[in-house]
Amino acid sequence: MQDHVIITARENRVGIITLNRPKVLNALNDEVMNALGAALTAFDADDSIGVIVIEGSSRAFAAGADIAVMANWSYSDVYSSNFITRNWETIRQVRKPVIASVAGLALGGGCELALSCDIIVAGRGAKFGLPEIKLGLLPGAGGTQRLPRAIGKAKAMDMCLSARMLDAEEADRYGLVSRVVDDASLREEALALAASVASFSASALMALKECVNRAFESPLAEGILFERRELHARFATPDAHEGMRAFMEKRRPVFEHR
Ligand code: HXC
Repeated sequence: MQDHVIITARENRVGIITLNRPKVLNALNDEVMNALGAALTAFDADDSIGVIVIEGSSRAFAAGADIAVMANWSYSDVYSSNFITRNWETIRQVRKPVIASVAGLALGGGCELALSCDIIVAGRGAKFGLPEIKLGLLPGAGGTQRLPRAIGKAKAMDMCLSARMLDAEEADRYGLVSRVVDDASLREEALALAASVASFSASALMALKECVNRAFESPLAEGILFERRELHARFATPDAHEGMRAFMEKRRPVFEHR
């Protein structure tokens, strides 16, 4: 498996996807994005998995889309093959929580991949940037949309227009990442977080993720209505009744994930 562009593993209810092109800092080509999409889809469909973690190497989560490949493409190539949409966007279909565990560089498409995840846990040495402008390109995997939603226009414009990299502490302060931990304990912390989230009801997690994402897709009143209906729907599930009953009985809930 070591020569595969991604490596998958599982630890109890956590599915782990490791990007594995270390020699090119995990540059994201079609082979990687197709394999990543397939692994995400497989874990998402697997009832024994509750949460998915995506990680890179200690040097790079991913240094962006593969420039060596893109350099040969024409407008017609990318337009007709629907570059990005054709495989990068698979992650948007994933209903289970996805955690990015980011060590080292998360640049360009690598930063955008992290931004597409639900939680970003960063090692203290991580660096985030959208340097596409240096290549005469622009962030095209959602970066110009997700970054301002995450950190606001002022900081997003600065990152995009100046190609400035943020270190993990800045990224944390601006709201780009969820948590910063020591590099040495990043994997352990990300997997512990994943295991903890995965212990909750899978159906409740899916509904919850959908609700939070709705905040970015709809006006407040519609989002609130969506949330209210999702809450009402929880009362039709065995897990919500089990969770509340377990609380009353002062015991740990045993979720069916339904
Ligand atoms: C292809 C890449 C790469 C990339 C690094 N490499 N990033 N190959 N695509 N995005 C390769 C290098 O060519 C080199 O291969 C090897 O990885 C190690 O990189 P070095 O440059 O030698 O390392 P270092 O000097 O430490 O510099 C690290 C770096 C630099 C600062 C990250 O590699 C760099 O600037 N990379 C490009 C970052 C970038 O611009 N990302 C955005 C891409 S555009 P060799 O064979 O020479 O050893 C993008 C568009 C998104 O993501 C649009 C929609 C998705």
